[in-house]
Amino acid sequence: MNINEFKLERFFSKYEFSAPYLLCSSDPESFLIKELLSFEEGALDRYLNQRLGYTETMGSLALREQITSLYKTIKPEDVFVHTGAEEGIFILMNILFSPGDHIIVQFPAYQSLYEVANSVGCKIIRWVINKDKDWDLDTEFLRKSINKNTKAIIINSPHNPTSYVPSQSKFAEIIEIARKNNTLIIADEVYRFLEHNETDRIPAVCDAYEYGVSIGSMSKSFALPGLRTGWTGTKNKTILEKMAAFKDYTTICTNAPGEFLAILAFKNKEKIFRRNLEIIKKNLLLLDDFFSEKKDLFRWIKPKGGTTAFPEILGNVDIEGFSIDLVNKKGVFVLPSTVYDFGNKHFRVGYGRKNMPECLEKFNDYVKNINLKVSA
Ligand SMILES: Cc1ncc(COP(=O)(O)O)c(C=O)c1O
Repeated sequence: MNINEFKLERFFSKYEFSAPYLLCSSDPESFLIKELLSFEEGALDRYLNQRLGYTETMGSLALREQITSLYKTIKPEDVFVHTGAEEGIFILMNILFSPGDHIIVQFPAYQSLYEVANSVGCKIIRWVINKDKDWDLDTEFLRKSINKNTKAIIINSPHNPTSYVPSQSKFAEIIEIARKNNTLIIADEVYRFLEHNETDRIPAVCDAYEYGVSIGSMSKSFALPGLRTGWTGTKNKTILEKMAAFKDYTTICTNAPGEFLAILAFKNKEKIFRRNLEIIKKNLLLLDDFFSEKKDLFRWIKPKGGTTAFPEILGNVDIEGFSIDLVNKKGVFVLPSTVYDFGNKHFRVGYGRKNMPECLEKFNDYVKNINLKVSA
């Protein structure tokens, strides 16, 4: 298999565990194991007695039952558990796509959402979101681009990196276009339930569309990326069967302690979502103030969901150079748009971590000298 480097993950790995001020994380403040265990009496004892055997390839029934609570029409047999969303994306694209298939993908995107298909030999059509329309998706482009070779439309909402969420009517229109063409929609919904205003939440695609495939994860909405637990939800049994057969060659099954803790987290999901959203909303107020005061330097589109935003730096600054200088001089890590293959002017900021205010202060210290950098 020949696959291009995952630019974002390679760049991240340089700084994630060395830079003191991570201002671009997409996972909210992680929970401690003991915090999760404290949610339920007797949980510690049960955890210590968890057998470290193999688990079921599809994921345990208990976990799949919990996962169905996120959906309206999905049953445990419509759910397949895997190691993070990432394994699901990898397997899905390998079992679904063949060389020459067309894939239309919302762009920019978390790279695996198109790169795995690219490695299979698909033709990737980038459905670029419009920064002049608050990152909105242009459905006319979709209508014109879709054809009989189009195997799937791939969307991600709330979106990494912009946190864009389509309106209910736009989402319905995307489904209507897909339905007319019998095209699959794969929706990466790992940030679902982190909409800042609940009324902005769109339905899960596996509920809303008969050829819809939803990908979920414990990593973002649940703030538990270390569990490495994700899932696929779809009513298409063939897809799930093929995924299970492929997984025999990747991880066979997910990890038993992870399943135990994931079930515990699901039982307490309202508490977890509330806590994550509290941090997010507090941080967003600060970011909003910061960027409102610095309109001469940055263009800011206030996000509607998720944990990241994608401001643009104005003037004669290349953002990759800026980001590297920033992390070297101040230890503040932001992610340049070059890792998304989306020009050299945007950068990702993350606002799900408790120390975001401190990171923002350090960022501000650096930015105060921005005029010097522009003319340098
Ligand atoms: C949109 C998107 N999909 C998938 C993933 C991978 O998630 P997981 O940690 O569940 O593998 C990420 C991680 O950043 C992401 O942002």
